[in-house]
Amino acid sequence: MKIVTPVALLHLCLCATAAVSGSVSTETALTAAQGDVAILPCYTVGNVTPNVTSWIKNGQEVIRGDISSPIPLGRQHLTVLYDGSLNIRAVVPGDAGTYLCSSTLPGNNIFHARVLLEVTNGPENMSLSIGPATALSNGTLIVYQGSAVSFNCSGSSYPSQQLTWAFRGAESSNQSLASASRPWLDFRIEDVQPSAQGVYSCKANNTVSFQTANKSTELLVYYAPDRHPECMWAPAQDPSHVLFNCTWFGAYPAPTLRWGEDQGDQAAGWKGHVYKSEVTESLSVLLNRSMLADGQTLRCMAQHLTLTAGKEKSCSFNLKYPFPNGDPMASALEASSITLTCTEDVSIPPANTIWRKGLQQEDIVPGSKYVLTEEGPVLKLTIHNISKDDEGVYFCRSENPLAVRELEVYLTVKKSSAYTGAIIGVFIAALIVGLAAIVAKTVYSSRHRICLGDGFGHMEEDRGDVLSLVESDDEQIFQDTVPRLPPIANGVTTTLVQIHRIPSSDHEDTETADPNPQQQDDTVRIEESADLVTF
Ligand SMILES: *[C@@H]1O[C@H](CO)[C@@H](O)[C@H](O)[C@H]1NC(C)=O
Ligand SMILES: *[C@@H]1O[C@H](CO)[C@@H](O)[C@H](O)[C@H]1NC(C)=O
Ligand SMILES: *[C@@H]1O[C@H](CO)[C@@H](O)[C@H](O)[C@H]1NC(C)=O
Ligand SMILES: *[C@@H]1O[C@H](CO)[C@@H](O)[C@H](O)[C@H]1NC(C)=O
Ligand SMILES: *[C@@H]1O[C@H](CO)[C@@H](O)[C@H](O)[C@H]1NC(C)=O
Ligand SMILES: *[C@@H]1O[C@H](CO)[C@@H](O)[C@H](O)[C@H]1NC(C)=O
Ligand SMILES: *[C@@H]1O[C@H](CO)[C@@H](O)[C@H](O)[C@H]1NC(C)=O
Ligand SMILES: *[C@@H]1O[C@H](CO)[C@@H](O)[C@H](O)[C@H]1NC(C)=O
Ligand SMILES: *[C@@H]1O[C@H](CO)[C@@H](O)[C@H](O)[C@H]1NC(C)=O
Ligand SMILES: *[C@@H]1O[C@H](CO)[C@@H](O)[C@H](O)[C@H]1NC(C)=O
Repeated sequence: MKIVTPVALLHLCLCATAAVSGSVSTETALTAAQGDVAILPCYTVGNVTPNVTSWIKNGQEVIRGDISSPIPLGRQHLTVLYDGSLNIRAVVPGDAGTYLCSSTLPGNNIFHARVLLEVTNGPENMSLSIGPATALSNGTLIVYQGSAVSFNCSGSSYPSQQLTWAFRGAESSNQSLASASRPWLDFRIEDVQPSAQGVYSCKANNTVSFQTANKSTELLVYYAPDRHPECMWAPAQDPSHVLFNCTWFGAYPAPTLRWGEDQGDQAAGWKGHVYKSEVTESLSVLLNRSMLADGQTLRCMAQHLTLTAGKEKSCSFNLKYPFPNGDPMASALEASSITLTCTEDVSIPPANTIWRKGLQQEDIVPGSKYVLTEEGPVLKLTIHNISKDDEGVYFCRSENPLAVRELEVYLTVKKSSAYTGAIIGVFIAALIVGLAAIVAKTVYSSRHRICLGDGFGHMEEDRGDVLSLVESDDEQIFQDTVPRLPPIANGVTTTLVQIHRIPSSDHEDTETADPNPQQQDDTVRIEESADLVTF
């Protein structure tokens, strides 16, 4: 603050009055800030008014004042006041120096005095440099989280200044960062964090005049999360529409999100259609079937000042038609149950998959007859108490916003063949019992010659059958291809011989869960006594 009014603000640092050797009676040291009014005293030891006072600077008289012709205070730089003091209207640095005054007192006594005038200057030309940083149009500076930022403050003061850096942020109302008596003061933040956002001010305080000046700058710390945006979808009321939602939280300031479609070479920039672009943390776009296609990639791109061009973060959906998958044929026996299986794990966005019945595609109402179960991507329809009416076509209908796709499953219902099975079973059983009787008889009659194991071995090789010997005592099943002989137990043992025909490979992948009567085990019971067969 510079004071130019005649009401002087005079800085008197040291005012020593002492007898000085020679003709000089007093010596005074004065400091004045530039622009101030300075009054240099001459005869101060008495109360008489000098007739003539002459002021000499650097050996040359600069002004002389005569009481008989006083010069009123005016526009002029130097004036000798009534009491002989030298008035300097607005001090300039050139006024600094050593002044000598000679006052002629009444009675022709000459009085000498010396005045040392120091002119302080500043602080002025304060400048702040903060960097590397980007300046906004209003002067606010921007740095990015994690960067190293240097702060430098400088100012000019004469003879010297105290510089102080202070910070005011969201978490600290006013914090002194550094202070030194120097022409410039610098410090550095190696890893700038959002908490360093605030106003940085530098104050310069003239060590002599205590004049101060300050300068401040607002600093913003921008940041963005490392992760990519999150792409989500939500079904709309109309199944042919879909709401894609993209969120990217935690960036400052808010990013620009953009929903668009990938096309061509990504490295060469985004050439595809842009559906929506906004400065927001969450952007959603409602698209309908006519805007979507199989294989299309919908991308949400996040743009932020902290991300360099080409390093934008994004997330995307690679759209896929639904593809319900399963066996198109199924067969079941009357009165049994069957489970039809449909897998939908392709569709993006996920499809709504349901089972429907008949050519009219009637809805299936779950209940005791129809049970619907969902295991991840697998949708199962179990039909209980199958009747001939259940025969026909079933649809596994999968719909996503792109399209509807159906899997057609034809269910064949077979008449309960338990009766036929029983007849065949009885016939085969009779045949085997007869055969077994013959074998047993032969074995018994030639028990000293026949090796039973060998015979069984050949039988297995020739027919590809697996023999299981089941001992009825403990129902233990031996499934070894080379049969083990049952241990001799006390009294009568019953040996169960189960012959499983290994099913041919084209029967194996049949989805039907019900057992085929032809594949049912043929069981032969051979009654034998311990003493009858000796192994
Ligand atoms: C000094 O001033 C006084 C009156 O103020 C006067 O009487 C005296 O003669 C003056 N002396 C000289 C040398 O002019
Ligand atoms: C302050 O700046 C002004 C103008 O830029 C210049 O003329 C002056 O010399 C500077 N003062 C100091 C002490 O550097
Ligand atoms: C400067 O502009 C930025 C961004 O527009 C704003 O956040 C900040 O408050 C402004 N600063 C000042 C001092 O006006
Ligand atoms: C700070 O600024 C001053 C004046 O501009 C300059 O002389 C000094 O070298 C700077 N200090 C640093 C560390 O940059
Ligand atoms: C804040 O700054 C003012 C002036 O710079 C000072 O008087 C005050 O003590 C400071 N407060 C704190 C809490 O540092
Ligand atoms: C300038 O420094 C002096 C001495 O340290 C101190 O008393 C004064 O309060 C300071 N002025 C300001 C505005 O800080
Ligand atoms: C900074 O300077 C302005 C004038 O430029 C003044 O109003 C303010 O009080 C000063 N602040 C401090 C802390 O010295
Ligand atoms: C998008 O997701 C965000 C975050 O989950 C949520 O706040 C917003 O409501 C969603 N927008 C729409 C239109 O669903
Ligand atoms: C799909 O959206 C476009 C653009 O909003 C519109 O022109 C078109 O009619 C819509 N189609 C359907 C089937 O809703
Ligand atoms: C099975 O269905 C028949 C008619 O198709 C019905 O008479 C019978 O009660 C059903 N049985 C069960 C256990 O639901």
